[in-house]
Amino acid sequence: MRKNIRFVGSSNRSPEIYYDLAALSSEDFAFLSPINLPDWCLKTAKWLSKSSRIGEIGVGKGKLACLTIQCASNDLYFALIDISSNMLDVTEKNIGHLKKSFVTTRSFKLDISTKTEINFLDDKLDKLIAVNVLQDVEINQSLTNMRALLNKGSEIRLTFISKETQDDFLKDDPNYDSSEGIIYASSSFHKEKQITPLGFFKDKEGGEEPFYRINRCYKHDDICNLLEKNSFELKTIEPIIYPTHYLWQRWKSRYYSISLTERQFKLIEDWGGYPDGWDVIATAI
Ligand SMILES: C[S@@+](CC[C@H](N)C(=O)[O-])C[C@H]1O[C@@H](n2cnc3c(N)ncnc32)[C@H](O)[C@@H]1O
Repeated sequence: MRKNIRFVGSSNRSPEIYYDLAALSSEDFAFLSPINLPDWCLKTAKWLSKSSRIGEIGVGKGKLACLTIQCASNDLYFALIDISSNMLDVTEKNIGHLKKSFVTTRSFKLDISTKTEINFLDDKLDKLIAVNVLQDVEINQSLTNMRALLNKGSEIRLTFISKETQDDFLKDDPNYDSSEGIIYASSSFHKEKQITPLGFFKDKEGGEEPFYRINRCYKHDDICNLLEKNSFELKTIEPIIYPTHYLWQRWKSRYYSISLTERQFKLIEDWGGYPDGWDVIATAI
């Protein structure tokens, strides 16, 4: 562990507390997620709705689930899985008015990174997706659990925060640890909600700043190895690049305002957006 990080709490319950609060927050609280890119979200919803038994882990407020149900034209069983019961409640409310007679949805409160007996489904799934979730989880146990939810030949779609990007973009940030691929995350949301910090990191002036969550980042090659180790065969891996209009909107928002350095502005210009993550499709073997 880095010497300028001091833990004061245990990370076990912190994602659940944070997401329970986030679920109840107003609309100006939105995740940095490809789900907020309309083309990506629609294509993904169509991809999901083509199968008959699907699942989403980390449903958030149900944006992708709503669109998937809207796209469905055949019998569909849809498992909604989340650590936060508030996220599941909000999602159920949001999909409520879209229900179709041939679509069955079931909600499961589950921590995907805990060793679990995967017996809550009556049958395995054909497709499973987790968007913008894997930064919060213990990756090996989560992939083991996901594999257990799937039939051989089923597909999984996962997004990861790109370590390649963070190594460059957050190079000078005291809350990023490149050796571990961890962002010690903080936001005005946590401060406003008076969430207990997980710990503190030393800022550039030597003062202590609180952090509330740990976000894990992965390189392209790490992802390939993790998939192989957990009985998945990589099909595609594409960068997720946020367009600048989306970035400015978010980085000026109430909870996520950040001030960029000149170097960071230049990087975004050179990259033609922000290559935040990896979008991965793999087959269960
Ligand atoms: C950053 S949000 C992303 C929500 C949505 N997928 C999106 O991209 O907008 C992460 C979601 O994953 C859920 N989550 C976090 N850790 C989890 C875990 N260990 N097991 C299951 N769900 C988890 C959160 O409650 C939340 O709904």
